[in-house]
Amino acid sequence: MSNEPIDLQTALAGFDDLWSPRIVTRINDYDVRIAKVAGEHVWHAHDDTDEFFLVLDGELRISLREGGAERVVTLPTGSVYVVPRGVEHRPSSSDGASILMFEPTGTSSVGDRHDEVPDHVDATTGHTL
Ligand code: NI
Repeated sequence: MSNEPIDLQTALAGFDDLWSPRIVTRINDYDVRIAKVAGEHVWHAHDDTDEFFLVLDGELRISLREGGAERVVTLPTGSVYVVPRGVEHRPSSSDGASILMFEPTGTSSVGDRHDEVPDHVDATTGHTL
């Protein structure tokens, strides 16, 4: 882990993989992860942790299943949103986006419960930059 400042645009320029988060730094027992996304992720839920999203560029949509109903939240650039623990969700972006997430170290990108993981989604606890 670097003890120098990290330029997020430079970090994002260093990889092209979609739905494949990179760990840019850590705070206490949390990872700060960045990812490039386009198309649909997979329906999944994190049973023991909330999940924080910040949209760095583009527009992210997050489908949510709450209380037997489904809804979609739309996050333009600069928006933050927290998916509560246990809530099934599926991020997507029709035109592509760059996002930053806070997750406890070791959190799987496809959660503790998920639909079948498609080939374009990386099931990972985060890669190093
Ligand atoms: Ni998630």
